[in-house]
Amino acid sequence: MTVVLITGASSGIGAGIARLAAERGYDLAITARRLDRLEALRRECEVFGVRVLTIQADLMQKEQVQLIAQTVLNSFGGVDVLINNAGFGRVDWLENLDEGVSIAGQIQVNLVAPIQLTRQVLPTMIARRKGHIINIASIASFIAPPTYSVYAASKFGLHGFTEALRREVAGYGIYVSGVYPGGVATEFAAKAGIERKSRVTTPSWMRLSAEQVAKATLELLDHPRREVVLPGYMSLLIWLNRFAPALVDWIVDRGFVQRERGDLRKGYPQT
Ligand SMILES: NC(=O)c1ccc[n+]([C@@H]2O[C@H](COP(=O)([O-])OP(=O)(O)OC[C@H]3O[C@@H](n4cnc5c(N)ncnc54)[C@H](OP(=O)(O)O)[C@@H]3O)[C@@H](O)[C@H]2O)c1
Repeated sequence: MTVVLITGASSGIGAGIARLAAERGYDLAITARRLDRLEALRRECEVFGVRVLTIQADLMQKEQVQLIAQTVLNSFGGVDVLINNAGFGRVDWLENLDEGVSIAGQIQVNLVAPIQLTRQVLPTMIARRKGHIINIASIASFIAPPTYSVYAASKFGLHGFTEALRREVAGYGIYVSGVYPGGVATEFAAKAGIERKSRVTTPSWMRLSAEQVAKATLELLDHPRREVVLPGYMSLLIWLNRFAPALVDWIVDRGFVQRERGDLRKGYPQT
C-alpha cells in the first residue's frame, strides 16, 4: 500500500496527479481549501478501488498545515509520497503588489507551507527509511521574469529547499525531487491577475497540459531523479539565462519591459 499526500489537489496539476495516482492504485490524501472539488475528485478516484482522504485546509495558516499532517498520519499511519504542489502567483510590478496575500501569502503558500508540511511528515519517513518528497516548483525557479518577482522568490526558494533536503536525507533512502514546469494550462493564469498592455504571453503551443505534468511527476516514483524540467527544451533557456544573462536582460527589456512600461529611458535623469 502506497500512500500519496497531494496538496493543491482541487484543480490543475494537483487534481491531475491525484487521478493518475488513483489509476496506479495508490491510496490518496488530497488537500486544498475547496472541499466540494476535493469530494468530487474523491468519488472519481475511488472508482479505482483506492482509499481517498480529503482534508480541507488553508496553507496560509500554519495550524492548518499541521492539521494536514496529523490527519494523514492518524488515518494512514504514514506518508510514502508527499507532493507539495499547491501554489499561486500574483503577477504585477513589485510596487503594485500588496504586502498581504501578494507578498507574505505567496511566500507562505509556495515556500513556507511546503517546508512546514515536509518537516511534519519527514520523521515517519526517516523512521521507515523510505519515502519520496516531490516539490512542484517552476521554470521561475531558474529564470525570474519581470512581474514575477515574489513568485520567483518563492520558487527559487523552493528549488534551494529541494536541493538541500535531497542531500540531507538521501542516506535514509528518501528521495527528494523537483518538478520545474513552464506554462501549464490550468486556473493559475486566471487567478494571477495578469494584465498586459502588449500581447506578450506564453504562446498556447508552448503550454503544457496538467496531465503532462502529472505524468512526468508520477514517473519520478518509478525512476527517481533530482529534477524534471518541462518541456525539456526549457533547459536551453535555463542554460542561456545562466551563461549569457546580459543577453537575456537585453531581450527581456526590449521584448517585454519597454513594451509594457513604455520606454523608461525617456524618463531617466540625465547624468
Ligand atoms: N500553471 C502554470 O503555468 C504553472 C507553471 C509552473 C508551475 N506551476 C505550479 O504548479 C502548482 C499547481 O498550480 P496549477 O497550475 O495547477 O494551478 P491551480 O489550478 O490554480 O491549482 C492551485 C492549487 O493550489 C491550491 N491552493 C492555492 N492556495 C492555497 C491555499 N492558501 N491553501 C491551500 N491550497 C491552496 C488550490 O486549491 P484551493 O484554491 O481549493 O485552495 C489549487 O488546488 C503551483 O505550485 C504552481 O506554482 C504552475
